[in-house]
Amino acid sequence: MLKKKIANIPFGPYITVLAGATVNGKPNYATIGAYGVVSQKPVLYISLKNSHCTTKGVLENGFFSVNIPSAKSVEKTDYCGTVSGNKVDKSEVFESFYDEAGHAPMIKECPVSYLCKVIQTIPIFDFTMFLGEIVAVYANEDCLENRRPNALKVNPIILMDTGYFDLKDKVGSIFKVCKGN
Ligand SMILES: Cc1cc2nc3c(=O)[nH]c(=O)nc-3n(C[C@H](O)[C@H](O)[C@H](O)COP(=O)(O)O)c2cc1C
Repeated sequence: MLKKKIANIPFGPYITVLAGATVNGKPNYATIGAYGVVSQKPVLYISLKNSHCTTKGVLENGFFSVNIPSAKSVEKTDYCGTVSGNKVDKSEVFESFYDEAGHAPMIKECPVSYLCKVIQTIPIFDFTMFLGEIVAVYANEDCLENRRPNALKVNPIILMDTGYFDLKDKVGSIFKVCKGN
């Protein structure tokens, strides 16, 4: 296959998630692609632009949520990534719920939500990376198989370049695909 060198841009793919925080007593959500795991410990990172409304809330409360929307919520997800809570009240876009383990709102219509306590902040350019220990995980019952979320049922939104995509098929099982090789 002929390789073509293309622009030095992070095209993805990324899973599109909604980062949540309480701002001025209300839930606020920002769409992000910059989220992931950092180690085998239950710690997630999110990276938020310093000027975002959500960033203010995470700094104030020391907690954030990561909510995994399914493809059917793509319009609301894009909306939360297009308008800022600094200008528009986004608290009613999704219905929120809470857990006593930490002060950050989670989204009812997202099949999976992680509640995280900030354990480290890393300034990077005009962004802040928040590393958060997972203190609670919620999943919709109809997305579970053996008490674990099933990706095809969750059907997350995958972001690549300028498009949103969903999942089609399972293509293997971890630690099993290459067994015996
Ligand atoms: C698909 C998508 C991915 C985005 N990824 C990020 C991201 O990783 N980090 C970030 O700071 N902003 C990201 N944004 C931009 C914010 O979501 C957007 O500026 C939002 O309005 C911020 O909301 P807030 O000011 O209410 O927090 C993304 C937007 C979209 C649409």
